[in-house]
Amino acid sequence: MELMVAKDYQEMSLLAAEVIAKQVKKKPDSVLGLATGSTPLGMYGKLLDMVNNENVSFKNVTTFNLDEYVGLALQHAQSYHTYMMEHFFSKIDIDLSNTHIPYCESKFINEIEVCNKACAEYDDLIEHLGGIDLQILGIGSNGHIGFNEPATSLETGTHIVSLTEETRIANARFFSSFDEVPTHAITMGVGTILKSKEILLLANGSNKAEVIANMFSGRVDTFLPASLLQVHPNVTVIIDKEAASKLENKYQTNGHI
Ligand code: GLP
Repeated sequence: MELMVAKDYQEMSLLAAEVIAKQVKKKPDSVLGLATGSTPLGMYGKLLDMVNNENVSFKNVTTFNLDEYVGLALQHAQSYHTYMMEHFFSKIDIDLSNTHIPYCESKFINEIEVCNKACAEYDDLIEHLGGIDLQILGIGSNGHIGFNEPATSLETGTHIVSLTEETRIANARFFSSFDEVPTHAITMGVGTILKSKEILLLANGSNKAEVIANMFSGRVDTFLPASLLQVHPNVTVIIDKEAASKLENKYQTNGHI
């Protein structure tokens, strides 16, 4: 894995946006895997600047988001559909019919085969379009990627997942109360993620320092889903100094781990 330690959140966001801009310039019909959460907000902001000032175009790009809550209407303020529209899709020249976010209505949670079908179709569509060229990831403080929560075994394909209490507590900041945080989500599986040709993981802030240090432990552990990225041949991790603060000294600057 390539590690880049940025001096702050702004620099991390710019470096990440530059990776995406480079990909889209090199291959205008790129297939991008996108993430939500607070971490990539700055990256989307920098990309908007590039679209407005540097001729970066998403006209022919296709996107697949990592995950979505189950139990929120698409137009709910905290749905990832709303997030993507507000922060990115409505402000760039992308064809909205080429943007994909996994979705399964909560009423189907008890008819799991309906959700399973939606999950399988999501993976099939990614495959049909040639696979993801560049997948952006954040990381949960418990090591989750997408919504792949720590567990004894992890599902490979897109699937429905029960959220851990830790994740629901972490995400409660976006809701008016903990009880409003959905209990389930739909997420690309680790297999879906690992099939991407290139992966870019971002993390910032001291609350991610511990999980980043654990991720670079050299061991692959399903209880730390992000550690599985160590087996992928083309992963870049861009973090700010705070998120790098618990890494061994020799890793506190840019380099190969
Ligand atoms: C959320 C999302 C992840 C995201 C992570 C970190 O629950 N499902 O895709 O990467 O948790 O979020 P944040 O960037 O807000 O710390």
